[in-house]
Amino acid sequence: MPSLAVTLGPLRAKNPVFSASGTFGYGEEMEPFLNPGVYGGIIGKSISIKPRGGNPTPRVVETASGMLNSIGLQNPGFDAFLRDYLPRMRGYGTLLVVNLVGDTVDEYVEMARRLEEVEGGEAVDALELNISCPNCPQGGMEFGIDPKATRLLVERVRAASRKPILAKLTPNVTDIVSIARAAEDGGADVLTLTNTFVGMAIDWRKRQAILPARTGGLSGPAIKPLSLRLVWQVARGCNIPVMGIGGIMNADDVMDFLVAGARAVQIGTVQFVRPRAVLEILEDLHRFLEEEGLDSIEQVVGTIK
Ligand code: FUM
Repeated sequence: MPSLAVTLGPLRAKNPVFSASGTFGYGEEMEPFLNPGVYGGIIGKSISIKPRGGNPTPRVVETASGMLNSIGLQNPGFDAFLRDYLPRMRGYGTLLVVNLVGDTVDEYVEMARRLEEVEGGEAVDALELNISCPNCPQGGMEFGIDPKATRLLVERVRAASRKPILAKLTPNVTDIVSIARAAEDGGADVLTLTNTFVGMAIDWRKRQAILPARTGGLSGPAIKPLSLRLVWQVARGCNIPVMGIGGIMNADDVMDFLVAGARAVQIGTVQFVRPRAVLEILEDLHRFLEEEGLDSIEQVVGTIK
C-alpha cells in the first residue's frame, strides 16, 4: 500500500490531512462520528490566556459555496484547556497541535512557556500561532498583517518554546509572501495558509448585515482557488514547509494543494457538511497513489509544471 506519511519540518505525520482549528472543538465534538486519531494531526480551537465568550449570535451564515463565521474566538481559556481538554486530546494517538491566540505578544509567549512545563514539554506536538483571526478587532489578525509584527511575535514564541511552530497566516494582505518570510525568519517551522477571507452577508429587506459583527471570515469551496494561489506563491517563495487550507472538500482538492507545493493540508468547513469526510479523503488518496503508480504521497508535493 502506498504511504500517506509526510514530514513537515520536524514533524512526522501519518497522513497529510489535519483537522483545522475551529471546526472540531477539541476533538470531543467529533467522537460521535469517528476516532479523531485517524487524522494526520488535530488542531484545537484557538486558546487564549483568559476565557472568551465570543461574539453575539448569529455567528455563521451560509453563502454561495461557502460559509461566513464570526465566532469571536470563544474558548474556555488556557487553564481550563489544560485541565479539561488537553488530557483527552492526548489520548487520540495522533499529532496534537495547540492553536494559540493573544491580545499581546506576552500572552502568546506565556502560553507557549507554560506548555513547556506540562509533562516536561511533551504534552503537545506543536504550536500553531493564530495571527490571522478576522473577527477580533483587539487582536489576532494585527500580528499577521505586518511583517515586523509577525517576525517579532514568532521570535518571542520561538525563544520561549522548543516545540515546532506553525504560523497561521491571513489571506487579507497585499503581499502574503513578505509575511510568510517574516514568520520563517522569526523561526517558524511550518506556514499554515490560509485562514478565512473577510466577507459580508446582507439581508437587504432589513437593510442589515446578517452577522451582528457585520463582517466575518469566509471559508468553504468558494475560497479554494484563492487559497491555492497563495499556497503556490508561498511554497515557491519560502524555504519551510507549507500546510494548505481553504475550501478542501475531497481528495482531489487535497492533491491540488499538494501539487501546488503544500506538504500537508487542513480540512475545515467540509466537516460541518460531512463530519466523516476525512475517511473518504484518505481512502481516495490511497487510490490515487495506486492509480498513479506512486509509493508515497510526498512524491506529489510541488510537482506543478
Ligand atoms: O471568530 C473566530 O473565532 C475565528 C477565528 C479564526 O478564523 O481564526
